[in-house]
Amino acid sequence: MSKNWLMTRRRALWLGLASLTGIVTQAGCRAMRPSYPIQALEDPARDFTVLGEAYLRERAAAKGLIYGAASGYEKLTSDTKFTARFIQECGILVPEGELKWTALRPSPDKFDFTLGDWLSEFAHTNGMLFRGHTLVWNQSLPEWFKDTVNSKNAEQILTHHIKTVAGHYAGKIHSWDVVNESVSPEHGRPDGLTVSPWLNFLGVDYIALAFRTARQADPQALLCLNEAVGGGQDDNFRREAILTLLQRLLSQGTPIQALGIESHLGGRFSNADLTTFRGFLHDAASLGLKILITELDVIDKDLPLDMNVRDRMVAAVYEDYLSVVLEEPAVIAVLTWGLSDRYTWHSTYNPREDKAPVRPLPLDAQLKRKLAWNAMARAFDNASRHRTHIPDSQLSHGTIRETSP
Ligand code: XIL
Repeated sequence: MSKNWLMTRRRALWLGLASLTGIVTQAGCRAMRPSYPIQALEDPARDFTVLGEAYLRERAAAKGLIYGAASGYEKLTSDTKFTARFIQECGILVPEGELKWTALRPSPDKFDFTLGDWLSEFAHTNGMLFRGHTLVWNQSLPEWFKDTVNSKNAEQILTHHIKTVAGHYAGKIHSWDVVNESVSPEHGRPDGLTVSPWLNFLGVDYIALAFRTARQADPQALLCLNEAVGGGQDDNFRREAILTLLQRLLSQGTPIQALGIESHLGGRFSNADLTTFRGFLHDAASLGLKILITELDVIDKDLPLDMNVRDRMVAAVYEDYLSVVLEEPAVIAVLTWGLSDRYTWHSTYNPREDKAPVRPLPLDAQLKRKLAWNAMARAFDNASRHRTHIPDSQLSHGTIRETSP
């Protein structure tokens, strides 16, 4: 057990109940599994005090980490106050939709990079890194797709898309979500893979093909598999399917370097959830992969209406989750899916039955820091130092530099 590991146990020790158990996991790694005696989310005595005024990007950078968020062209060109806050808080920008097929591919023979290019320029002009999301997904496919793509041309269409898009942004991207949400146990396959046109037309090897093609088109960007997993709401089968897939890809020599963990979190965790999740992070890291938290937010649809109570519970989820995540040295970045409650996909995708506005993000709709912001700041402040990972081509864009652990 490393000294680092022992030091990061201090939160559990502080609560006086740490216990460590060795468990042989499905990935074949011996993961040390601590217990996480978390405080009740509703605890009115819970302290969210933050010292100093530094922005999240600065607090993250002080620990060798990258903090940033998803946003889009429309918001960043029409809302100057939001844009100013985005630049202050974020060290990396990921386009929420502008690099998906629906946005980039108006027709089978056309690519439209207008909005993506604006965002990439915006990020770099303002000292932010830029993420690519996403080259291959079973969703966000254009209308023409179903009438055009078939088992005969799928390989050519997939590789052409990846070569063109990853090639277009080569040298400008910190990390690409090469394949998005490749595991969906709810689709019912024994291997847990998402049933998608790509899987139907090309078989399971479409994933390796996508990574190989992306590596050729952009030799520098960190290549990620981005999966809908995080914290308490996931089942073992999902996690094991992801680890099995990663092991298979790596054993075939697939150029995959990182796992993206989306982290659209539900409103509650148990200690056992966090303990299991810590083991999952360890297992992924043991495969030699970096880890990015790519789409963090807290779904508050089932939390109490009272805004103060709700904000405390959301903040507690952020802090409990991130304190576990940031124990893992392989974690290099944390991104939220949006920055302010003014703009969040959960308004549409997970609205509250009582119609109250949802509050899943670090800033409120008036762009003020919420307790969720404090929770993130505290998690970064309390984290041990991580080894920064920024591709050489991107070093001039970010405000943080390569550091030693
Ligand atoms: C979501 C966007 O936030 C929505 O605006 C869009 O309509 C649908 O996609 N996982 C992902 C993201 O990988 O691309 C999704 O983004 C949210 C879930």
